[in-house]
Amino acid sequence: MNSDPTTSKPRRSFIKTLGGLTAGLASLPTFAQAQAAAPSRASGAKYMGDFAAPKLDKIKVAIIGVGNRGSGHASQLAGLEGVEFVGICDLNEGRAKRSGDGITTAGHSPKVYFGEANGWRKMLTETRPDAVFVATPWELHAPMCIGAMTAGAHAFCEVPLAVTVEEMWDLVNTSETTGRHCMMMENVNYGREELLYLNMVRQGVLGELLHGEAAYIHDLRGEMVGGNSTGSWRTLHYAKRNGNLYPTHGLGPVAQYMSLGRGEDNFGRLVAFSSPSKGRARHAQKSGNLTDPAWKNLAFKGGDINTSIIKTTLGRTLMVQWDETSPRPYTRLNLIQGTKGTLAGFPNRMAIEGLTNHHDWAQGAAWEAIAAKYEHPLIKRMGELSKKMGGHGGMDFLMLFRIVECLRKGEPLDQNVYESCFWSAVGPLSEQSVAEDGMPQPFPDFTRGNWKTTKPLGIVA
Ligand SMILES: NC(=O)c1ccc[n+]([C@@H]2O[C@H](COP(=O)([O-])OP(=O)(O)OC[C@H]3O[C@@H](n4cnc5c(N)ncnc54)[C@H](O)[C@@H]3O)[C@@H](O)[C@H]2O)c1
Repeated sequence: MNSDPTTSKPRRSFIKTLGGLTAGLASLPTFAQAQAAAPSRASGAKYMGDFAAPKLDKIKVAIIGVGNRGSGHASQLAGLEGVEFVGICDLNEGRAKRSGDGITTAGHSPKVYFGEANGWRKMLTETRPDAVFVATPWELHAPMCIGAMTAGAHAFCEVPLAVTVEEMWDLVNTSETTGRHCMMMENVNYGREELLYLNMVRQGVLGELLHGEAAYIHDLRGEMVGGNSTGSWRTLHYAKRNGNLYPTHGLGPVAQYMSLGRGEDNFGRLVAFSSPSKGRARHAQKSGNLTDPAWKNLAFKGGDINTSIIKTTLGRTLMVQWDETSPRPYTRLNLIQGTKGTLAGFPNRMAIEGLTNHHDWAQGAAWEAIAAKYEHPLIKRMGELSKKMGGHGGMDFLMLFRIVECLRKGEPLDQNVYESCFWSAVGPLSEQSVAEDGMPQPFPDFTRGNWKTTKPLGIVA
């Protein structure tokens, strides 16, 4: 029998197998087809890219989840003009009552809900809010935002917007059919450096954009404590999933510099690799009573550091890294590079042809001198107040202020539902790529082609 020397299979069956594979490859969708394979928009649904909701003079606000993050949102929102707090909900009675008391002291009379996993649904029905803020564990974001929009409210959600691509489509479809905003609250887009770089990019200081780098590198092993803490539910995600699980803080601002999903360019495809998983198990063993004893036996699947690379529709590149496990200093990288120069963060640096000696980084006083010239108008208008009001150096306050301002003026928000999905999709797409040993994953086009006519975010004055 005529056998193929590299296998013990008979040659005819080898050729047949090869033939089948080639036919299979020919029938695989091309990249463009895969990306275009978006579920069609429901009849009567409307594209929400530049959506402006009717003006609301008074905004009836409710919040779900007042743990670490939500309690801060509740107290900051309670102080904003035009906000009337109608409801507050947390599974945990102590947290719900503590936030409820704080808000009542600020002059509101919210109904307080606690103790039931579906208490938030009762709150939506009984209090009929205009806007619902969601700050709960990741897996609850999609059902809660969908519930809020279906009940007639705009949804504002913590990061990431959702965990799976399917949930993201459900959120897009619900926003489009209900005509309600669904914004993931990426607070880092309101950082002083991020707004400054956006302003410089918009003024053409970097020439044509080529490449960006973003990250969330933050040693959060200290959050691995049991009970009701943030770490209790986040640790289970690290254990079960292997990818770039928290991409949006670094990515959001860089994506807006590049106007991805807004007229100029869009997310194309992504490849991702994770390092071995060592740090979480090591920490669980080492930290004695600090960690939940059950975690000592948990098989941590997620690699300590994930590196994902995105190719955009125009062929630009964007590196996104994530590591909440390793002993190294905090960084979001915040780097954007163009034909005339580069802006970077952590520490703040610039190298711009004609403006600095671009063979060295301009840092410290030299960086500040250029920054003063390009300070973003929103920082000029609100920077001092936001520093006083605080929340990650003022960016949280600025974000909530802008949400309320846009709703009251009936203007489009600074971040739309499609951007929220594109940025969050790095999570599941990186998991898929890692599982397939780095195979490229096309981004779904959540806009169904409408990104081409969506305005880039302007300079918010
Ligand atoms: N943007 C930022 O800078 C930033 C910072 C920290 C956390 N976050 C995000 O905020 C969200 C919350 O994180 P956290 O650190 O506050 O976590 P947390 O564990 O401190 O708070 C979550 C809260 O949700 C409540 N909850 C859980 N299930 C509920 C249900 N069914 N109904 C009502 N309440 C429920 C919990 O009781 C808890 O109080 C996450 O999405 C996280 O990624 C964002």
